[in-house]
Amino acid sequence: MPTYQLHINGSARAVSAEAETPLLTILRHELGLSGPRFGCGQGECGACRVLVGDQSMPSCDTPVWAVEGKAVTTVEGLGSEAGPHPLQAAFLEAQAMQCGYCVSGIIITAAALLKRVPRPSEVEVREALDRNLCRCGAHNRMVRAILRASEEMAA
Ligand code: FES
Repeated sequence: MPTYQLHINGSARAVSAEAETPLLTILRHELGLSGPRFGCGQGECGACRVLVGDQSMPSCDTPVWAVEGKAVTTVEGLGSEAGPHPLQAAFLEAQAMQCGYCVSGIIITAAALLKRVPRPSEVEVREALDRNLCRCGAHNRMVRAILRASEEMAA
């Protein structure tokens, strides 16, 4: 089995895996990162999203070979309990989640949006979240949390 040199949340990690192994499988089962979630497994729901560079990508249909040498950031790498990312803080403050299953993927998509568009409009936030499903219907609070985080990050 080949070995891949990965860069996960700022750390170098070597993993042995078949080339087509989904990045999500590596993150959850080899590296113990449970933030990215398995939902549809087909790149449709957004629960597994991670940053590859500055892009939000579904890790369930991204093979491990495709991210060798690239910076991968999961929700765990955005911030910590002691020093949360502004998005994480805003989601907590706004209670912008119910069951929480989708929230790490949504925060990742929001982080990619704010890198690209630091002060997005509400419409831009809603468009960015189009590929992230939330069955609890908490999108309105999430949109408010993202807009609040963008204000804080710009201040
Ligand atoms: Fe990857 Fe749904 S589990 S997009």
